Amino acid sequence: MRIIEAKNYDHMSRQAANIISAQVILKPDCVLGLATGSSPIGTYKQLIDWYNKGDIDFSLVRTVNLDEYCGLDGSNDQSYRYFMHNNFFDHININPDNINIPDGKNENAEEECKRYNDIIKSMGGIDLQLLGLGPNGHIGFNEPADFFSMDTHKVSLTDATIQANKRFFEKEEDVPRFAYTMGIRNIMQAERVLMVVSGKSKAKVVKEAFFGDVTPKVPASILQVHKNFTLVADEEALSEL
Ligand code: GLP
Repeated sequence: MRIIEAKNYDHMSRQAANIISAQVILKPDCVLGLATGSSPIGTYKQLIDWYNKGDIDFSLVRTVNLDEYCGLDGSNDQSYRYFMHNNFFDHININPDNINIPDGKNENAEEECKRYNDIIKSMGGIDLQLLGLGPNGHIGFNEPADFFSMDTHKVSLTDATIQANKRFFEKEEDVPRFAYTMGIRNIMQAERVLMVVSGKSKAKVVKEAFFGDVTPKVPASILQVHKNFTLVADEEALSEL
């Protein structure tokens, strides 16, 4: 585990974008595992800026997103597909055929999870997985539990996650109760994992996840044993260490 201390959110975003940019330059057809949430938005902005300057080419890059809410399709502005297009894909030269996100509208969970696992397998795995950190220690939508779920699965969101994510919806009732998410094995098999964390509100969970026990009760803690895990966090997020 490597920790890179950034001064603030912008600095964190530039540091993370540098690592992703290096990955794309070294392997132009790499598989990027991508994440939503407020944490990676600055990273995407920086990558778009370098793309506009002609420094990065995404034409061969393939992507696989971590998760999606069940019941929302890409035209819903709260769906993660919408988020990804709005904050990243629509501003770079990625080939739309190379974008993969779980299909929240597929009601057949078994079929959808298998389809998604097969996609990850057929791509030969993930070269770099970008992650945020949920306030309860979740990664993707792998919520605190008694065991680690290995592959893509349908998850029932915890109340803490519904509370944390309701700020994006008009009313709390609108927050979907279920989601599809890559599992812990999908994430742990990535060649490199890069997490971005910012702000005081994450300081306690950063300490628990990376300086506490490895336990499914804090899903991100499993990253302590990943072979190539980099945490880029700002001073506030590291303030409890
Ligand atoms: C959501 C996503 C996670 C993300 C988390 C934290 O629940 N499923 O992938 O990491 O939110 O979001 P934020 O970066 O806004 O704190």
